[in-house]
Amino acid sequence: MSGLKYPMFLLGDSKDTLKSIFDSSIDLILTSPPYDNLRDYKGFDFSFEEIAKELFRVLKMGGVMVWIVGDSTIDGSESLNSFKQALYFKELGFKIHDTMIYQKNNFSNPSKTRYHQIFEYMFILSKGRPKTFNPLMDRKNVYAGYTTLGENTTRKRDGNFTKQKKRVIEEFGMRYNIWKGNTSGQENMCKSIKHPATFPLWLARDHIYSWSNENDLVLDPFCGSGTTGVACKELNRNFIGCDIESSYIELAQERIKNTRVENGLF
Ligand SMILES: C[S@@+](CC[C@H](N)C(=O)[O-])C[C@H]1O[C@@H](n2cnc3c(N)ncnc32)[C@H](O)[C@@H]1O
Repeated sequence: MSGLKYPMFLLGDSKDTLKSIFDSSIDLILTSPPYDNLRDYKGFDFSFEEIAKELFRVLKMGGVMVWIVGDSTIDGSESLNSFKQALYFKELGFKIHDTMIYQKNNFSNPSKTRYHQIFEYMFILSKGRPKTFNPLMDRKNVYAGYTTLGENTTRKRDGNFTKQKKRVIEEFGMRYNIWKGNTSGQENMCKSIKHPATFPLWLARDHIYSWSNENDLVLDPFCGSGTTGVACKELNRNFIGCDIESSYIELAQERIKNTRVENGLF
């Protein structure tokens, strides 16, 4: 899609607007769909299967899609639509590269009959083998500075350990696949974003860093207030955002315009 100007916004139902995007042109899709009618986005619904097919078509071979979703409880039972969607993506040809968890530092609805619900799934889906993985190395190692025993800790089939070179454990290791942090509400204590279901900026930033490189093209087919677009500007990625509601597209444009980037870094 060279010659096009980013950020680019497509207003309308994604089942229609995604058709204007070229085949295999997107490096990363990062999104949180409207799920289980948990929020009333001015009455809009979405055609999951049609959109899922479009998302597979526009993603490059080796591209990744991060699908952040939760379930509602209907008539005393969790819908598990999150898993139904993941399985449908698998049928389409996506690989379920990982099932990650976004653990919120707060819950939104207190529960009296079960433990408070504080997480959403983050399905990491890929078209073929992911071409990019820039792991975040910010987990403090408990044994930093100690020397390893020189044996692998996982046993071989015969029960023995494999020998390894001894090494000094570094201060930081790769992050685990459960990401814990502030919700968007906590992150924006002093300023309210006029959208009912934003994800936090740190979450968008960390996924974009992990699964794409500078100048890559990132798509959010349900961009809402444009959090993905803001993180793209900070990290020097190109961005396409789609939403069915014009006031959300305007909000996204405004937020991205007001994002200050110094020397390409936020
Ligand atoms: C969970 S919100 C996304 C919020 C976003 N991640 C953010 O941080 O602001 C889902 C968005 O999907 C939009 N939407 C709902 N149905 C849609 C459809 N069929 N096509 C495009 N957008 C749709 C809603 O207007 C809403 O803004």
